[in-house]
Amino acid sequence: MNAPPRSFHVKSFGCQMNAYDGTRMAEMLEAEGMTATDEATQADLVVLNTCHIRERAAEKVYSDIGRLKRADGTTPMIAVAGCVAQAEGAEIPRRAPTVDIVVGPQAYHRLPAMVAAVTAGARAIDTDMPALSKFAQLPVRRRQGPSAFLTVQEGCDKFCTYCVVPYTRGAEISRPWGQVMDEARALVDAGAREITLLGQNVNAWTGTDGRGLAGGLDGLIAELDRLPGLERIRYTTSHPNDMTQGLIDAHRDVGKLMPFLHLPVQAGSDRILKAMNRSHTRDSYLQILDRVRAARPDIAISGDFIVGFPGETDADFAATLDLVAQVGHAQAYSFKYSPRPGTPAATLDGAVPESVMDERLHALQALIWEQATAFNAATVGRRTRILIERDGRKPGQRIGKSPWLQSVHLDTNAPIGAMLDVEIVSAGPNSVGGVALSG
Ligand code: SAH
Ligand code: SF4
Ligand code: F3S
Repeated sequence: MNAPPRSFHVKSFGCQMNAYDGTRMAEMLEAEGMTATDEATQADLVVLNTCHIRERAAEKVYSDIGRLKRADGTTPMIAVAGCVAQAEGAEIPRRAPTVDIVVGPQAYHRLPAMVAAVTAGARAIDTDMPALSKFAQLPVRRRQGPSAFLTVQEGCDKFCTYCVVPYTRGAEISRPWGQVMDEARALVDAGAREITLLGQNVNAWTGTDGRGLAGGLDGLIAELDRLPGLERIRYTTSHPNDMTQGLIDAHRDVGKLMPFLHLPVQAGSDRILKAMNRSHTRDSYLQILDRVRAARPDIAISGDFIVGFPGETDADFAATLDLVAQVGHAQAYSFKYSPRPGTPAATLDGAVPESVMDERLHALQALIWEQATAFNAATVGRRTRILIERDGRKPGQRIGKSPWLQSVHLDTNAPIGAMLDVEIVSAGPNSVGGVALSG
């Protein structure tokens, strides 16, 4: 028998879906009577909510586990959750014997029971994928900041050849309409003003509305638009193939839907897109953006890129740069290809040397940086509404979000959670400066 843990610390890595899961685990542990602590080594229970997307992310888990050893040689109860837990399962305690619990992304509603089992002297491993059962068993949402995440869709059926997500998160599943609306209402009651709908392929969400009519994400967004107290709606991440005309039109028709779209394309060469099994081409991707911009001309475009996929030539990479030059991103993420165990691309020949990947990443990031700076500069002079999200560095400063997801720094006493009219007056690559027009 061990003493039952009274304090806990959850550390999440990776994507927003993981951040959401981390919040839900924390809420669950609080509902069990435990208290959150900021310092991992002070906590009785540490949950490492891990990411498996690239090799470096996955390896980090083991160095983090090592760092949990306290000065007196003891360790807290350690739970490894998230995508590394799903991918490596029982291998984790074999490699890191101080780990007590391994729990996958679809099984974390069982965490309190697993903690009880460890307290009783056992080790607990659960990487089951029971479809959706976890949500109904989680406590009601509470204590929200102004901007909240809400996972509506889980898993992925796309099987891009480089990607572990279909294996760690399972098949595409949509949470039912009523369950999503209940959670959205609870979030607004708990103080949320903005909700970001989440999913590995959020725009693949489908469901049946209150009147029994089947529909897609656009229908859900239209219903959320009618939710009193909710000011803003966002969604991420989307796949080009699920970008329906209804969802595109929602960017024109739905007042609370923000003009921002994260639509990863990954590469600009059709040959590489095919090898990645992306099932869209460079042109079909650009045509989607044309339709999106026709519906909402000021929309901010974001994306993800991989450089150095096996077999990527200089000409292929030039096609990526050329595509980026055409799009005009407000922001974008770019990564060096990382071979992942069990994925089809990991067995491909034609590995790109590290030094070439470094050069390509550098060139791509320089171009994206230029575009982001230009995007922000073009918003100077705009009068718009921002959501105040947190304190700035100096007293009297706050940081808010513009509709285009820019961080807006300004002097104001407006409280966190307020909507404020501002004029954007200055711009940098990562944020803009504003002045309040009221309040
Ligand atoms: N579901 C989303 C995001 C998946 S993971 C989508 O389909 O766009 C986030 C990003 O990580 C991906 O868009 C991709 O750019 C990157 N990524 C995924 N697997 C990778 C790998 N093996 N190596 C490098 N980057 C990868
Ligand atoms: Fe991974 Fe592709 Fe699925 Fe995105 S769409 S999660 S990149 S397999
Ligand atoms: Fe990482 Fe899993 Fe998200 S691998 S990116 S935490 S879905």
